[in-house]
Amino acid sequence: MKVALIGASGETGGSIANALLESGTFEIISLVRESSLTKPINVELQKKGVTLVPVDLNGPEEALVPVLAGVDVVISAIDAGLLLKQIPLANAAKAAGVRRFIPCSWATVAPPAGVMELRDAKEEVINHIKKIKLPYTIIDVGWWYQISVPRVPSGRLDYAVMMPSDTIIGDGNTLSARTDVRDIGRFVARIIADPRTLNKYVFAYNELWSQNQIYDLLEKLSGEKLERQYESEAQLLDQIASAKKETGPWAKIKVWSLEYRHSWGIRGDNVPEYATYLGYVDAKELYPDLKGISFEDFVKELLDGKGNLPYKNKTPP
Ligand SMILES: NC(=O)c1ccc[n+]([C@@H]2O[C@H](COP(=O)([O-])OP(=O)(O)OC[C@H]3O[C@@H](n4cnc5c(N)ncnc54)[C@H](OP(=O)(O)O)[C@@H]3O)[C@@H](O)[C@H]2O)c1
Repeated sequence: MKVALIGASGETGGSIANALLESGTFEIISLVRESSLTKPINVELQKKGVTLVPVDLNGPEEALVPVLAGVDVVISAIDAGLLLKQIPLANAAKAAGVRRFIPCSWATVAPPAGVMELRDAKEEVINHIKKIKLPYTIIDVGWWYQISVPRVPSGRLDYAVMMPSDTIIGDGNTLSARTDVRDIGRFVARIIADPRTLNKYVFAYNELWSQNQIYDLLEKLSGEKLERQYESEAQLLDQIASAKKETGPWAKIKVWSLEYRHSWGIRGDNVPEYATYLGYVDAKELYPDLKGISFEDFVKELLDGKGNLPYKNKTPP
């Protein structure tokens, strides 16, 4: 199976590239913007057998068609700020006869519109895919372990904690599906080879954890006492309203991250029951043998100093 991956140098795309390489059953081409072709991470992927192909998503759509000739599956894990750039890619995939397109979702479960601006943009792309009748699979993964942990008072987790979960939303008891970003690719390797997932939404997550449970676990494993600072729904909604008035490069990202917290922390959207209600198929039922990294093992790894700070390779889009 020939797979074209966009975003292979990123967090999600890197997980996918690694798992596809590991499985040894895919021919992988990585669609890379010209300026990133010599990035060390891309050179490394090339050495492992990935073919790098330069693409310009701002260029003419027709130029993308020959790039996708003979490709079975296109997987996009592009920067969340560039979602609409996938529209010409989807059109080109349709023209090239691609058999399955996996647009950039990789998100928490949420309603298709009206709750999170970022979800709305993802669904705009998904709707375009449906409009042009391009076969697809949408894969949502819950909230990454890597952005689920709070800091601890000694500072020993600061080296690896990004977007620390330093406030607890609501009463802190809302469960939310969580996944180690390194496991995303393992799910993808199974999903793209599975006819049962064609034209479906798939929910592929590792474990359900509430924020209070995470704080309890951190306290148990670190031996440190964490301060629990609770944040009400009204406070969160106020923050979202004022973030929406902000401008500048980080304004959008701030809105997205606050809206995510509202969706998984207050509304309780990011759970398997709601996914089933929305029509998702559950990867746990499809692949009961696929065991991901446990959240407890992930936290132990962090406390042992073996974690990694996400986005080390990131260059602005
Ligand atoms: N569920 C969660 O908890 C969670 C957390 C974070 C993100 N996400 C989602 O995961 C998805 C992927 O995000 P990520 O954070 O994994 O991505 P990322 O690490 O930011 O990587 C973005 C990728 O897009 C590529 N890219 C940027 N501009 C490009 C262009 N003009 N042409 C071609 N490629 C370009 C980058 O390549 P270069 O090397 O060229 O820069 C990089 O490979 C997003 O939908 C995001 O919302 C989910």
